[in-house]
Amino acid sequence: MKSKVTEHLTQVKIFIGEVVSLVSTKNIVPHLHSVTKELRSERKKQQPCVLWFTGLSGSGKSTISSAVELKLYQRGHHTYLLDGDNVRHGINKDLAFSDEDRIENIRRIGELAKLFTDAGIIVLTAFISPFRADRRLVRQLFGDGEFIEVHMDTPLDECERRDSKGLYKKARAGEIKSFTGIDSNYELPEAAEITVKTAELGIEACADQIIDYLIANQLIGAARV
Ligand code: ADX
Repeated sequence: MKSKVTEHLTQVKIFIGEVVSLVSTKNIVPHLHSVTKELRSERKKQQPCVLWFTGLSGSGKSTISSAVELKLYQRGHHTYLLDGDNVRHGINKDLAFSDEDRIENIRRIGELAKLFTDAGIIVLTAFISPFRADRRLVRQLFGDGEFIEVHMDTPLDECERRDSKGLYKKARAGEIKSFTGIDSNYELPEAAEITVKTAELGIEACADQIIDYLIANQLIGAARV
């Protein structure tokens, strides 16, 4: 489990990171381009946002985010789904599962999601993202209402019963170390915009719950674009 010392070290690291970034970006002046986020979004006839799925391994992040992406696509929207298991084969293949690597994993995904929204895309991310502080840092990259935390509220025993990748079995046998929910902490969201109970609802109902949130908050229209 993540100790107070690790938590403190994390905060210190974030602070050092901010100082380093201030120093290393000192002589870099962002260029203001003529084609803006607003123009790109207008061309796509949509409002970009991020659906940030968080939850234990096996909680349904990939399944439900994929079902939501399909529904958005069918409604005429431009989307992109960033999924932990895929991204870790590419841009983040240098990262493992220590607290430090998970923090860097989420930092990079946050920045990627920001670039995609800047391109006018509706982004879905499916990462355990176990630490509150990291999810908060990512939230701060976005404007009001643009970052939507979706908690896949699936009990550990249900995730373990599903064990679709056989990883819980290995973690219990000690073959995988620092496995979330077993010997690595998952910090529950305190105020997620959407809480999905995947053990109680089917895939369609879970996906509709998220689409209904987007409609109710006028992030997408009720009709196809
Ligand atoms: S995160 O903690 O850094 O957000 P991420 O979502 O990218 O994790 O990757 C989690 C996926 O990696 C899990 O769904 C599982 O398939 C795999 N995995 C392999 N080792 C571990 C581990 N020690 N803890 C959690 N997931 C692991």
